[in-house]
Amino acid sequence: MFSIRLEQPADSVAIEELLDLTFGAGRRNKTSYRFRDGIAPLGELCFVAEAEAGLLVGSVRYWPILAGSAPALLLGPLAIEPARQGRGVGRALVFHSLDVAAQAGHRLVFLVGDHAYYERFGFDPVPPGIVMPNESSARLQYRLLDPSLALPERAVLRRSPGGISPPAGHATPLAAKAIAGAPGIP
Ligand SMILES: CC(C)(COP(=O)(O)OP(=O)(O)OC[C@H]1O[C@@H](n2cnc3c(N)ncnc32)[C@H](O)[C@@H]1OP(=O)(O)O)[C@@H](O)C(=O)NCCC(=O)NCCS
Repeated sequence: MFSIRLEQPADSVAIEELLDLTFGAGRRNKTSYRFRDGIAPLGELCFVAEAEAGLLVGSVRYWPILAGSAPALLLGPLAIEPARQGRGVGRALVFHSLDVAAQAGHRLVFLVGDHAYYERFGFDPVPPGIVMPNESSARLQYRLLDPSLALPERAVLRRSPGGISPPAGHATPLAAKAIAGAPGIP
């Protein structure tokens, strides 16, 4: 049994230990960490899974990034305590956090990971024109949270030190396009 709740500041030590355990001490050398260095995660989308006695057994976090000029999310790290893997904790964390992201108006999510796992959440490998510098395009996946939109043909993923623009419902160029019925993400 486990439950899901928003990450709290007091969880940070346990999460760092979980990430070291699941990804190894060299995890910070991954390209995706260059998109996180010095940038705060989006706290409203960061969830933990808690088992009996409040034991933290899973974590998912999201960072703001840019795809060209379009705001997007970078999902990850996603980590489940080894003894609890394969019991649906990862699945629950990803589906829940994607639901919250969609309800908040976010439209586009990227991650670096195994398509064999993430396809169950609707992620697809990026087309050739979408690039995360220094990362294998085979591991870069995307999911549109608003199916009426489409990916741009070409975009380079970039760090977003200033966070990302307000999501749907606000007067962004992206929202204007969607409302006008002209699918596409600039
Ligand atoms: C990958 C991970 C997040 C999955 O979470 P989980 O709670 O163990 O997985 P779930 O119970 O939700 O799903 C289990 C299913 O995913 C599959 N799966 C797990 N990891 C997979 C992978 N890397 N590739 C393909 N399938 C995978 C299992 O075979 C199982 O398949 P089934 O449903 O057909 O039986 C977890 O195993 C983990 O933390 N691994 C180490 C860190 C990691 O690799 N994180 C992902 C970064 S890309």
